[in-house]
Amino acid sequence: MSSRQKSISRRTFFRNGATAAGAGLGALIATRTSGLFGAVPPSDRMAVGFIGVGARAQQIMDSMLLIPGVEIVRVCDAYKGRVARSIERCNGKPTAVDNYKKILEDKGIDAVVIAVPDHWHKTMAIEAMQAGKDVYIEKPLTYKIDEGLEIIKAVKDTKRILQVGSQGISSDIQRKTRDVIASGKLGQITMIRAYFNRNTAEGAWIYPIPPDANPQTVNWEMFLGPAPKLPFNLPRFFQWRCYKDYSGGIATDLFVHLCTSIHFMMGVQAPSQVMGMGDLYRWKESRDVPDTINASLKYKEGFMVNMSGTFNNTISSGAGFQILGTEGSLEVGGKLTFFPETPVEDPSWVVRSWPSAMEKAYFEDPKMVAYLQEARAKEAARQPEVIMVGDDDATKAHLERWFASIKSRTAPEESAEVGHRACSVAHMVNLSIASGNSVYWDFEAQRVKSD
Ligand SMILES: NC(=O)c1ccc[n+]([C@@H]2O[C@H](COP(=O)([O-])OP(=O)(O)OC[C@H]3O[C@@H](n4cnc5c(N)ncnc54)[C@H](O)[C@@H]3O)[C@@H](O)[C@H]2O)c1
Repeated sequence: MSSRQKSISRRTFFRNGATAAGAGLGALIATRTSGLFGAVPPSDRMAVGFIGVGARAQQIMDSMLLIPGVEIVRVCDAYKGRVARSIERCNGKPTAVDNYKKILEDKGIDAVVIAVPDHWHKTMAIEAMQAGKDVYIEKPLTYKIDEGLEIIKAVKDTKRILQVGSQGISSDIQRKTRDVIASGKLGQITMIRAYFNRNTAEGAWIYPIPPDANPQTVNWEMFLGPAPKLPFNLPRFFQWRCYKDYSGGIATDLFVHLCTSIHFMMGVQAPSQVMGMGDLYRWKESRDVPDTINASLKYKEGFMVNMSGTFNNTISSGAGFQILGTEGSLEVGGKLTFFPETPVEDPSWVVRSWPSAMEKAYFEDPKMVAYLQEARAKEAARQPEVIMVGDDDATKAHLERWFASIKSRTAPEESAEVGHRACSVAHMVNLSIASGNSVYWDFEAQRVKSD
């Protein structure tokens, strides 16, 4: 096979079909034939650039480095310390650029990971697709609710593969949960409890600030981008989730994971109605977003979700779900546990108010005696069943799904539409908190009802 044929098959492997980056193809092919990728055939290689190499991006790198055929070639970040650490993490292979646009202009790069604060997500995702890159964008897809529709349009216009990064849905536990629910084992599910609870400063996003952070190492203007112009401020830079200028707080940062998972596990799109309440009770010095939120979501498929998050208690620690059905419940966390329902019909407290003879007859009825015996025996034998314990790398699995979509040019499971709907629920919670009213979803327009 000639080097040109090789380079075309490589391109077909990852890009296949119409590409908005058609004009840059010559340069792409030239890069691929240069032997840059060593012994592995070019058709098995993909060059990835990272826009933002903060805490999450470096977790993604750890997982991506385990996937054969992927080369992390370029990184960009607004804090020098993270640029240096990310290059070190990738054994010195990537080079740094001082502006994300240089990653987008680089025709040798096939795909980008965008892992920057949320107020940048829409701009960077759309620009990346317009530059011909496939995109892995960290959750939450959007900073404001209607940005999702713009991103969806850009996916369609550019024919790029965009996957959102709520890796939970690629975990073995959530995939098993989806199967158990679909099997009917839980009976009729009418209620789900979902939560995200913490009780530390770190959990409340008061992250440590690196000792070398100063105006020489931190590019404040680069961080601000489309956000309101404010003077240099290290807590805002490193603890950006605490501020509405860059984040939607608990709802968009944490509930969005819960919503994505519920939609995936239940096979539904979005709630028809959302109500939220939130307040800032404790971490008042450090933020302008709530530290406690309760939300109710109502789904037209016939169930409700009670979603809560607090930074002030961890009796239900971490994140989890209780999926409650008439035949049993699933608890989904680090492990997946089934609790059978063993209801006993025992109206004795009511029957005891009847005339004595009638009460006696009721309980001496042989059918009632047999029923109670059997029901109580079942109740006594009731045992939770641990279906599985999760120890897989969900991020790696999620990245592999993205790469498979890139290869097949088919929409990923967590597409822009899926990300938009999950993130919209988070925005609806915040809109409801702000207005004090319910917020309703328009399924046709894929946006909040305006009337
Ligand atoms: N999927 C998950 O489980 C998960 C976990 C954590 C974070 N996240 C998401 O990942 C994203 C990043 O979060 P994080 O915790 O890594 O935050 P972080 O603050 O640790 O990292 C963000 C990085 O972006 C850089 N940055 C800011 N503006 C930039 C710009 N214009 N160009 C280049 N770099 C820029 C910052 O310097 C910083 O290093 C967020 O959207 C967050 O919601 C997802």
